[in-house]
Amino acid sequence: MWQSIFGKSQEDEKMDSPNLQLDPFLFEQVDKASHIVALTGAGISAESGIPTFRGEEGLWKIMRPEELANFDAFMENPDRVSEWYEHRREIIDNVEPNPGHKALASMQEEFDYVTIITQNVDGLHQRAGSENVIELHGNIYRNYCVDCKKRYDYNNLRPSEGAPICDECGGYIRPDVVWFGESLPMAAVNEAEQHAASADVMFSIGTSGVVYPAAGLPRMAKSHDAYLVEINPEHTDISLIADETIRMKSGIALPELLNQYHSWKYS
Ligand code: OAD
Repeated sequence: MWQSIFGKSQEDEKMDSPNLQLDPFLFEQVDKASHIVALTGAGISAESGIPTFRGEEGLWKIMRPEELANFDAFMENPDRVSEWYEHRREIIDNVEPNPGHKALASMQEEFDYVTIITQNVDGLHQRAGSENVIELHGNIYRNYCVDCKKRYDYNNLRPSEGAPICDECGGYIRPDVVWFGESLPMAAVNEAEQHAASADVMFSIGTSGVVYPAAGLPRMAKSHDAYLVEINPEHTDISLIADETIRMKSGIALPELLNQYHSWKYS
């Protein structure tokens, strides 16, 4: 049923060339920054083979969010919604973090203070070795009972045919992701805003920048004098305010950025 969204990255191949000449001004900003923040969206996981949401081949072109990603839809048809999330978990289980995720993880090792704020629920930053990951939209591997709120890790869920049922109260168990019409986890939003406001350099990576409050973070960073760099093969609203835009896939751009920074710094 969900076969149509399986498969490798469906993104345009035109941005594959590592022919990237970065301005040394960017390296200076990175070098002197005491706080670097990376805001990531679905695009950073595209090269791992996880479909993005928007664009020609995005998930929301194939699926109707109102039928799958909201609470009423879940309560109306818990089996169908659970099956869709199970399908997405299967995709994620079978992919690996890509060079973009890995480059951000190695930036965290190299620089004093690097925070990752992600809209993704796939846990690929953590699998790449990143720490300090703020998850704005939840995580597809966490779950909780809609009635008693008992929490379940994916591994604790008993295999079930349809929607899993809580062993405490018999309620339906849902994924701990933010659905349409729901509020984001307040603690994560507050933390993300604090980091955005104190960033010296912010990278906006692989996000269309249309879903708030995440889309407000680059603007917030910029209004607090951060140097804003966008990495995205396509133009977005964030391009309009970015100090620098790298029109390339993040799996190519981020490792290349680190390579060129090292050459600039150590040669
Ligand atoms: P979108 O699908 O809206 O946007 C993905 C962005 O990634 C686009 O701007 C693409 O141009 C870009 N992109 C594609 N491939 C890329 C690559 N290899 N490298 C870099 N960029 C690439 O995804 P998000 O902005 O993350 O929310 O969407 C935000 C939220 O909308 C999601 O978290 C989800 C969705 O509804 C919830 O489910 C709550």
